[in-house]
Amino acid sequence: MTEFSPLESEIHKLIRSSGPMPVWRYMELCLMHPEHGYYVSRDPLGREGDFTTAPEVSQMFGELLGLWTASVWKAIGSPPMLRLVELGPGRGTMMADALRAVRVLPPLYQSLQIHLVEINPVLREKQQATLSGARNITWHDSIDDVPEGPAVILANEYFDVLPIHQVVKRETGWHERVVKLDDDGKLVFAAADEPMPRFEVLLPPLVRAAPLGAVFEWRPDTEMMKIAARVRDQDGAALIVDYGHLRSDAGDTFQAIARHSFADPLKNPGQADVTAHVDFQALARAAEDVGARVHGPVTQGEFLKRLGIETRAVTLMAKTTPEVSADISAALKRLTDSGRGGMGSMFKVLAVTEPNLTSVAGLNDEPPAPGDEAA
Ligand SMILES: C[S@@+](CC[C@H](N)C(=O)[O-])C[C@H]1O[C@@H](n2cnc3c(N)ncnc32)[C@H](O)[C@@H]1O
Repeated sequence: MTEFSPLESEIHKLIRSSGPMPVWRYMELCLMHPEHGYYVSRDPLGREGDFTTAPEVSQMFGELLGLWTASVWKAIGSPPMLRLVELGPGRGTMMADALRAVRVLPPLYQSLQIHLVEINPVLREKQQATLSGARNITWHDSIDDVPEGPAVILANEYFDVLPIHQVVKRETGWHERVVKLDDDGKLVFAAADEPMPRFEVLLPPLVRAAPLGAVFEWRPDTEMMKIAARVRDQDGAALIVDYGHLRSDAGDTFQAIARHSFADPLKNPGQADVTAHVDFQALARAAEDVGARVHGPVTQGEFLKRLGIETRAVTLMAKTTPEVSADISAALKRLTDSGRGGMGSMFKVLAVTEPNLTSVAGLNDEPPAPGDEAA
């Protein structure tokens, strides 16, 4: 008989008692189940873990986000106190690199109150160790708990872990996509029996014309709206970096990553990172709906080049051994290239600010070329 993990057994029990489970609920349990959720119980990052993120690829990423923070601080009139907030800070690497870069501006460095929004106790400990030299750090479970005041909010690979809803198009209309048990007791995807009434009018026009069988997915706008309302009313800016698409469209991007490879999201729930691509058009719409100003999105490669990553790489390479220099060159390529394994065009960057801030570093020059849409 197959041995199930504790979370899989619990999901089976829930489905047996209450019926098929919406994809968003399944994703939420996989990631945030209070005992067995993926993001409640482990450090998933790095070579030994399941995936590597941009700050873990190179110090240049966090340093440039630090300089971006400095440019926003100046643009909003150099307030005597700035809240530097990071959503989902992983191991604290990006914040440590950003703070090192910001130290060159003592009035800004001394003005900082640092707020880390993190639900993972294992990663909170790592963040504490990584940032042991920094002052004024507070941890929070949610952005709701960050006190008022001007803020720069940074979020790298945060939105992709927030649960998505999925619907499937059938002759009878759009049906919620669910997870159920098949006759062999295996978790499988299915469509709910009843269509969602009058749902089509809510869909982006491009999606309404999708063929039968198409999947459409979305995240609730709540998180983006909270961030946008905050920077609209209290000065500041948010920077969102993630993998995703520029236009809202049909497509199933629900995926699992374990040990640096794609895995079946219905296998071993709670043991793999389950994510979905970020819909940047939907994020921008949600921010604009509450009256904030949106800048971008641009591709990560373009953003980092505009902020001077190539010059920074040359400076670092001049001071080191040929081996380390080769590593820096490889990291530069990984962060900015569009080819296989490159994060340059798969990742996008979007900023949200108060309405009067008409320009922010790295985002307002030109829109991405159509070929950069690659996901
Ligand atoms: C994919 S990791 C990215 C980590 C880091 N930003 C980086 O780039 O290395 C997602 C991060 O978000 C945190 N996280 C996941 N769900 C969260 C939630 N609902 N609220 C706050 N943090 C969350 C995870 O624990 C982790 O720190």
